[in-house]
Amino acid sequence: MQIAIDGPSGAGKSTLAKALAREFRFLYVDTGAMYRAVGLYMRNRGIDPLDRPAVLDALPAVSVELKYEEDGQHILLCGEDVSRQIRENEISRYASDVSKIPEVRTFLTEKQKRIAETCDVVMDGRDIGTVVLPSAELKIFLSASPETRARRRAEELAEKGQTVSVEQVLEEMRQRDEADRTRDIAPAIPAEDAIPVDNSRMSVPETVCLIRGILIGKGLLKP
Ligand code: DC
Repeated sequence: MQIAIDGPSGAGKSTLAKALAREFRFLYVDTGAMYRAVGLYMRNRGIDPLDRPAVLDALPAVSVELKYEEDGQHILLCGEDVSRQIRENEISRYASDVSKIPEVRTFLTEKQKRIAETCDVVMDGRDIGTVVLPSAELKIFLSASPETRARRRAEELAEKGQTVSVEQVLEEMRQRDEADRTRDIAPAIPAEDAIPVDNSRMSVPETVCLIRGILIGKGLLKP
């Protein structure tokens, strides 16, 4: 079975996807981490992520792999575990910029499709329901109010020792979401058959419960 969770940054996609993966014993795939790894590669080599020829020149040397350990998904960039570095605030912009480049998307989309062929997955991102897993049995478009999303992202950064004000996060998030939504290729918009879920006022267990109910309603899960 395939569950696709799309939505803007800070909507709580990864928290929900991890909880669902645990609940149903599916593999969790965080596709944003893969775009972040490509963004990190460009940042580390001083490559402007908007300079398409320069990014394309570098791309053949980039290897992005996922590794699963007891504490969850780890991301390897050219063999090095960069799970922590990709969460730096600056890398969000690099990831959003490289994600506009069609060749970067093809490179990562193919990997994501291959992973989903091997087992049951909960995959989160921006184009999972529209491009990566168009036949997913369940597609959720997760959202929350901009203030809730900015607060969550600021808290997440603070936990990792990066202090950024909620106002700054909100402004950066607004710009990135606009860029992700309006890009020419695989824009971050809901699939036609996606179910919209706003979790601004819902806890994670409540959202999992709602999704469990949707799966039962679709006949994909026994009550
Ligand atoms: O979910 P995130 O913030 O880690 O994603 C980082 C960036 O990658 C974000 O700006 C959008 C982009 N992205 C994408 O274009 N397609 C995906 N499937 C996942 C992420």
